[in-house]
Amino acid sequence: MYTDKMLRDDALKGRNIVVTGGGSGLGKAMTRYFLELGAKVAITSRNLEKLQNTAGELEQETGGTCLAVPCDVRHYDQVESMLQQVVSAFGKVDVLLNNAAGNFIAPTERLSANAFDTIIDIVLKGSKNCTLAFGKHWIAQKQDNTVVLNIVTTYSWTGSAYVVPSATAKAGVLAMTRSLAVEWAKYGIRFNAIAPGPFPTKGAWDRLLPGELREKFDLAKKVPLQRVGEHQELANLAAYLVSDFAAYLNGEVITIDGGEWLKGAGQFNILEKIPPEMWDMLEEMIRKNSGK
Ligand code: COA
Repeated sequence: MYTDKMLRDDALKGRNIVVTGGGSGLGKAMTRYFLELGAKVAITSRNLEKLQNTAGELEQETGGTCLAVPCDVRHYDQVESMLQQVVSAFGKVDVLLNNAAGNFIAPTERLSANAFDTIIDIVLKGSKNCTLAFGKHWIAQKQDNTVVLNIVTTYSWTGSAYVVPSATAKAGVLAMTRSLAVEWAKYGIRFNAIAPGPFPTKGAWDRLLPGELREKFDLAKKVPLQRVGEHQELANLAAYLVSDFAAYLNGEVITIDGGEWLKGAGQFNILEKIPPEMWDMLEEMIRKNSGK
């Protein structure tokens, strides 16, 4: 059920989409579904060989058109050139999915200035570079009905220890999403964000839960729904948000985490640990103390 596909087959027909970081992980999962729904998709990353393998595999699997374009989103000139290549190949581009990210766990005092910069450059500067280049292009072309979808995280607003550069950068991406949703609405550009909870991928898990940490910190246990997400569930949401069905959705961040971040936030959520049979005794104590 969690892997069921949500939209009708031609829901993205005629839409051309760029997915940064589309060569693997969640970017690849979203790309696969966009292709299945009839979109043409260009995937970008630093690793051309990986991109070409993914593009070939997904074209075979879906019968769609997937273009591999090398681009390091940290460099504005590379982003501009990537955009030109996609426009030359597809004629136009309608959707930008800022999915490329960099992250690893570390106590902040162990980070070099360059390590901190590297994450900010990929996540915040990379999203900015793509958004600015695509936005300028759409505005100059007077092309409306365009969409920017940003992948953020629930710690964009809570912050998080041990991933401080990522938290700092993702908070910026969320601010950019909400700011430009207002400023560029007049150009027909919609901005939304998705904040995914745990959706296991090799890239993220190797960096965020290396080795034994994976057994020690079972992320499914942190989730009220007691499971991690299926990639298709994220792909369903992303496809909806970039489709015309979401034409009135602008400036929103949608969390898809099974309730994970709220579980960590609610003051008394910890009472979940109390066994059901103990509640009779607790109720009695409370009533007695309040004289009822
Ligand atoms: N702990 C502390 N510092 C680290 C580190 C770690 N685990 N990994 C890298 N760094 C430091 C490096 O030492 C370097 O700093 P220095 O020059 O002062 O020594 C700096 O970070 C940049 O690392 P480098 O490997 O040169 O950068 P890169 O651009 O090739 O790689 C990363 C970027 C580190 C984010 C790499 O993990 C990557 O390419 N990730 C892409 C995929 C990804 O992270 N996806 C997100 C999954 S959640």
